[in-house]
Amino acid sequence: MNLTLRVWRQDGPTAGGKLETYPITEINEDMSFLEMLDVLNERLIEAGHEPVAFDSDCREGICGTCGLMINGQPHGPQRGTATCQLHMRKFRDGDEITIEPFRAASFPIMKDLIVDRSPLDAIIEAGGFISADTGAAQDANMIPIPKPVADASMDAAACIGCGACVAACPNNAGQLFTSAKLNALNLMPQGQAQRWDRTINMVERMEEFFGSCTNHGECEEACPKEISIDFIAYMNRDYVKATMKNRKLIGQTTP
Ligand code: SF4
Ligand code: FES
Repeated sequence: MNLTLRVWRQDGPTAGGKLETYPITEINEDMSFLEMLDVLNERLIEAGHEPVAFDSDCREGICGTCGLMINGQPHGPQRGTATCQLHMRKFRDGDEITIEPFRAASFPIMKDLIVDRSPLDAIIEAGGFISADTGAAQDANMIPIPKPVADASMDAAACIGCGACVAACPNNAGQLFTSAKLNALNLMPQGQAQRWDRTINMVERMEEFFGSCTNHGECEEACPKEISIDFIAYMNRDYVKATMKNRKLIGQTTP
C-alpha cells in the first residue's frame, strides 16, 4: 500500500504544533498501525530527520498507552480495538490518514503524539485499590459471588486506562474510565469495606480534572474495551448513596 500520512508534530508542551505530510510507500496490509509508524520512523531516521514521538508498550491491547486520533477517531476506525491492534488492512491503497494526539484539555501534549494522561492515575490514587490484606486465594466456594456480578466486575476491569473516552467526549469527561475502575471493585465482596469512601474520593478527584457527563455516549463508542455507559449509572447511584448524611440508616457504615 502507498499512503499519505498527515502527522501532528510538536516539539514540546509549550511549542506550537502543526500537521506535517509524509508520503509512505510499500506498507504491508498485515502490519499493525504502530508497525507502520515504526517504518515511517526508520525512514525518517535514515533521511536524517527526527522520528515521530508516540507511546506504546504492550502492543497487545492491554497497557492503554498507545491511543492516537486516527482520522478524527480515538484509536481509529475499528470498533473495540486499541491503536496497537488496528491493522493496515482497515485502510485502502492511496488513502490519506491524519494522525493526531488525543485532544483533551486534561491531557496536555508532551511531544508530537504523546500526551500526559496522569490525571487518570490521580483518580486511581484516590481510591482505585483495596487496602485490606486479602491473603492467599481462597477456595472458590468460600465467597459465593453470583455469576452475573462476577461477569460485570470483569467487564469493568477490562478498562486499560487509555483515555479514549475522555478524548471522544465533547465535555472532556472522565466518567467512563472512573466508573469502570470503581465498579470493578465496588461490585465484588472484597471491595465492600471501602466502597463508599472509594466512591466519594474517586468521583471528587475526577471532578478536579475532567468535565461533566451529559450522556452523549461518545465514550462507549470510542472505548477499545467496549465498556458500557451503564457503569456510569452505577457510579452515580453509589455516589448518591455514599453522600447520605447517616449511612447507618441505609445499612452502610459511616466513615
Ligand atoms: S473506559 Fe475504555 S476508553 Fe476509557 S480509559 Fe478505559 S478502556 Fe480506555
Ligand atoms: S500498546 Fe498497550 S494497549 Fe496498545
